[in-house]
Amino acid sequence: MTEMDRREGLSPGVAGTPVLVTGAAGFIGSHVVSELLERGYRVAALDDLSGGFRGNVDERATFVEGSVLDVDLVNGLFDEHRFTYVFHLAAYAAEGLSHFIKRFNYQNNLIGSVNLINASVNHDVRCFVFTSSIAVYGHAHSPVTEETPAIPVDPYGVAKLAVEQELRITREMFGLRSIIFRPHNVYGERQNIADRYRNVVGIFMNQILRGEPLSIFGDGTQSRAFSYISDVAPVMVDALSRAEAYDQVFNIGAGRTYTINELGQAVSRSMGVPFRPRYLPARSEVQHIHASHDKANSLLGYESRVGLEEGIDAMATWVKQVGARESTRFTAIEIERKLPTAYKSD
Ligand SMILES: NC(=O)c1ccc[n+]([C@@H]2O[C@H](COP(=O)([O-])OP(=O)(O)OC[C@H]3O[C@@H](n4cnc5c(N)ncnc54)[C@H](O)[C@@H]3O)[C@@H](O)[C@H]2O)c1
Repeated sequence: MTEMDRREGLSPGVAGTPVLVTGAAGFIGSHVVSELLERGYRVAALDDLSGGFRGNVDERATFVEGSVLDVDLVNGLFDEHRFTYVFHLAAYAAEGLSHFIKRFNYQNNLIGSVNLINASVNHDVRCFVFTSSIAVYGHAHSPVTEETPAIPVDPYGVAKLAVEQELRITREMFGLRSIIFRPHNVYGERQNIADRYRNVVGIFMNQILRGEPLSIFGDGTQSRAFSYISDVAPVMVDALSRAEAYDQVFNIGAGRTYTINELGQAVSRSMGVPFRPRYLPARSEVQHIHASHDKANSLLGYESRVGLEEGIDAMATWVKQVGARESTRFTAIEIERKLPTAYKSD
């Protein structure tokens, strides 16, 4: 703990400090739960299991099945547990699909967040940690820094940015402190590999297990930096005890970019099969994006450590154990116009 932390009254992992994690049965959320428990926090794990799995949640956490949209449930949890910290990860994170499910996107990802912000103000939460996304930057020129103007290009990114802005004005009005992380393309064990609309690493692995070719939108030259989970979840939890992190926004994740074709090759190699792509019509998406992590590096000592091959190998080992999953479909499409064919077919 630094001198600044002491002055601010921050203390890491005080045994029994109550923390709420939403989206706790999901991929990143379940790792955040484990990290918190390791440090001695007491965790209430909320998830509606729309995209997560009960089995992902550490048994030492108190699991509550329910939605962040259920105001009575949310307020009841705050009354009962008196949370000191909130980690809000619950969201439906299908960026490309969000154009076609706008109402659902804003309801779930924005209004659901507002329910938690209201409760956090009313219960004097010490810090609200929010997982935003690199999606807030839209088509911005890379590398994006936290100072880059945020102009999202899809409803998912708009909702994330709106929650960020909500947290800013809630801090100014009511003093609720927050830490915002903008991760990008996170992958690893416990990721939902059944969702056809998101998580390209998981989609590729599921397709390989099912003997299918890898579906690639466009020519596969679009590039991303893929971030292994152990480079993301621990830093989010450590930030609680870093005064420098409070009221800040951080990009976190891997630095090196790969094209989708390169990713497909790496995943195929790791799964022990030849690279077999199936190129589909391009969809509306950002062509190249990667982030600067200089701010997290200088304020939090953050460094991403796990390279793509190492991370993919670890995830592939897990995926081979859990096996293929039935690819799920989102049924409540609100706008059919321009819906990519790949989103409709099996
Ligand atoms: N995975 C990434 O690459 C990435 C990148 C940037 C940001 N994020 C953000 O991180 C968070 C976690 O993402 P993830 O990859 O772990 O996704 P995930 O789908 O594995 O986890 C999200 C969890 O939220 C739950 N959930 C959704 N709506 C809910 C609701 N209304 N009430 C309660 N629970 C609900 C789902 O059941 C799921 O378990 C999300 O907010 C996402 O937007 C993820």
